Parts: sequence; C-alpha cells; structure tokens
Amino acid sequence: MTDNTLRRPALSRKSSALSGKVHVPGDKSISHRALMFGGLAAGETRVTGLLEGEDVLRTGEAMKAMGAAIARDGPAWVIQGTGNGCLLEPQAPLDFGNAGTGSRLTMGLVGTYDMTTRFIGDASLSKRPMARVLDPLRQMGTQVLEAREGDRLPITLRGPKHAAPITYRVPMPSAQVKSAVLLAGLNTPGVTTVVEPVMTRDHTEKMLAGFGAAIEVETDSQGARHIRLEGQATLTGQEIAVPGDPSSAAFPLVAALIVPGSDVTIENVLMNPTRTGLILTLQQMGADIALENRRSAGGEEVADLRVRASDLKGVTVPAERAPFMIDEYPVLAVAAAFAEGETLMQGLEELRVKESDRLAAVAAGLKANGVDCTEGEDFLAVRGRPEGKGLGGGEVETHLDHRIAMAFLVLGLATEKPVTIDDQTMIATSFPEFMDLMTGMGAGIETPKGAT
Ligand code: S3P
Repeated sequence: MTDNTLRRPALSRKSSALSGKVHVPGDKSISHRALMFGGLAAGETRVTGLLEGEDVLRTGEAMKAMGAAIARDGPAWVIQGTGNGCLLEPQAPLDFGNAGTGSRLTMGLVGTYDMTTRFIGDASLSKRPMARVLDPLRQMGTQVLEAREGDRLPITLRGPKHAAPITYRVPMPSAQVKSAVLLAGLNTPGVTTVVEPVMTRDHTEKMLAGFGAAIEVETDSQGARHIRLEGQATLTGQEIAVPGDPSSAAFPLVAALIVPGSDVTIENVLMNPTRTGLILTLQQMGADIALENRRSAGGEEVADLRVRASDLKGVTVPAERAPFMIDEYPVLAVAAAFAEGETLMQGLEELRVKESDRLAAVAAGLKANGVDCTEGEDFLAVRGRPEGKGLGGGEVETHLDHRIAMAFLVLGLATEKPVTIDDQTMIATSFPEFMDLMTGMGAGIETPKGAT
C-alpha cells in the first residue's frame, strides 16, 4: 500500500528522437495463469519469460501458500503443482496487493474447495467490485463469510462440500469473471459452462486446454461463445514460454509514434487477436507500425513491432473493440492528444472499475496538461494538437494506477512543458523495467531530486 509519505513522483520532458531495439517483460495475463495452472497441475511446469512484476509474484505467493512449490532456476521458474483438487487451506490471508486478476481468478480457483480463504489487498484493490465474481460462486455453493459493503475486500470465502456446476452468462465483457467461473469448475463435478456474449481475451481457455483440461468452445448463431469445462479432470505440468506483453509494449510504442524522428523495434510481442485492438486503432490513425518476423511461439502468435514516428489523425474507436484493448485506453488517449482532429473512444464503462476510475483519471490528467477533451459516462473524446504546443506543465494524480503513471510519463515526452506524475511506485506491479527501458531509448524521464 502506498500512503502519501511513500509517494515517488516522476517527471518527463520533451525528448529528441527515440531509438533502439527493446524487449518488454512477459505478458501479465499469461504470467498469472502460468503460476496458477502450474501450481494446480500434477508434476512440473517450467515457465520462461515470466513477468516478475509485483502483481504476478503475489499470485506465486498465494499458490505457495496453498501447497505449490515455486522456485526460480536460472531464467526459468519451476513449479511443482499440487494436482487438481488438492490445494491446501492457506494458513494466513492471501494478500494480492494491487492485482485484480490475481485476486479474482484465485477466488474462482478456491471458491469450490471445502476450506476457508481470506483475501486482502491495497487501497485500490479494496475499492474494486468483487460481486461480479462472488455472484456466480454463490450459485456454485460458495459461502461469503466476510465482505465489505458492495462485496469488496477484505473477503473470506468458504467453499461447499460438494460444488454445483452452473451455466453462467457473463453479464459484462470480463475475462476475469469468465476465468473465475471456469477455475471454480475445475474442482466441481460435471460440466461448468460459461456463455460469453462478447469475446474477451482467451488465455484461460487456451492454457487450460494445454494443461490437459477437458474444455471445448462453440460459437452460436448470435456470436456468443459457449465454453464447457468438464470438472475434476487431471491437469499435467507444461513448458510455457511467456511472450512479451502487448499492454506494456503500448507505452514505448506510443512514445515512438509521438516523438518526432523516432525509430524503435519492440521484440517478441504477443499478437493474440484479443489483444491487438490498440495496434489496429493506431494504424487507422496513420501510425507506421510494421509487424516483422511474425511467428508462432508456444501456441500464440508473436511479432517484432517496428515503430516510426508518425503524423496521427483522430478516429472513432467503436465500442465493440473495447475488450480487445481495454487496458490500452490511457495510452491511446495520449496518442490522441497529438493527433489532428478528434479521437472518440466509445464503450468505456469498464474503465471506471479498473485499478482506478481510469476514465476520470485520464480526463483529469489530460486537462491538467492543457489537452482539450470531453469525458462522458462511457466515452472519451480527445482533440489533439499535433506539435504538442502549449501542452504539458501539469501534475497528474495516478490513484495507485500503474497504467495512468506510465501513460502520462509518455505524454510528457512530446509536450512543450514537462509532465509530472505524483507517484511512480505502482509501475512495478506490471512493468518494473519501464524507467530503464524508456530512458535507454532516449526518453527524458527522471525522478526529481529529493523524491527517492
Ligand atoms: C485481465 C482481464 C481484464 C484486464 C486485466 C487482465 C485478465 O480485466 O483489464 O488487466 O488477465 O483476465 P477484466 O476482466 O476486468 O476486463
């Protein structure tokens, strides 16, 4: 938890051309799942390229507390899992820090075990809605012994003696909710079905199939996906190579687009189609992004992204695209601040329940730096200034949100005046190498003196 006294501000200033070949850390969604599924599966799982961010490491600690053995062995993480159905009751509360994915997926994982598990987290996580996961779990027989108003952390769950399989139609586009129900289904007799009217990232389905789960996906005539999982199957340890995180790549990518003269290559980035909405949108805005060396690695598409500074034009980003770029709106808004004309982003209601109310935080940060924008209930419109003239000079409140921190440090690389953020500490939750990687490309990002 970060209180005022522990805040570390950071500042970014107008930079000359960025260059270099960079490697972003492993995908956060896949890293969480690799530790969870490896911790659950029988036998050994070896993971290379794991994101060693705070959020993911907390998932590892939680799995250890429930019986998995997890240790680093050179570049790999080696996991000895408990076997499906054999997690142990943790002796202390599981502290998920800032991590929505870690906490929500683990609630699903333990929710059908006849044991008691307490979940705690930082001030940001403790504000986030958990009813979306607890509602289906209650239907499966989970008792919620403790929760703060509106089903918020701290939460204590007690699973039933015999869980009931359900068919659950996910009411909002959320891979976390889909995944929590499927993971609860792993320890439930019979078939658990998740109906997903709007497709979201599919890492859980793909990875569980890789671990040997009996899972099938069918798309109906309305386009809804029906994911059926047979419970109590044997999961077996796997080798996993985690590709680079497109949601982290988004920051050096947008930085290279908006800083004149830049030419940057970001290597080994995950190109799963449920994650590439930002690239598509930026290309529609006129961005020069070449997907080089496209290849398949460990069941996922990856590519190297060569990004050159570009003149951007405003576009309308349709609501249907939101699930495929849900974490990228803060940095897209930064790109839009330098585009000619208006960029309209629609269907953003889920942004209000991320690590912060991201819609409000982005709009406030843009306004503090002179960017003309309109915040609606579920949309954001940004009117850009291609040269960044007169922009910058503001201080941005990050509200314990790593992506707000990184997005606004990118903003300051092309504004006339520097941009300050109130706190850089949360960046370590998803992208501990961010500062070094950005300054290595030539970005003028620094920690002001006295803010150590
Ligand atoms: C994630 C799903 C998304 C995303 C988050 C990671 C996942 O959250 O924003 O960063 O790994 O399943 P929602 O399920 O709340 O949309």
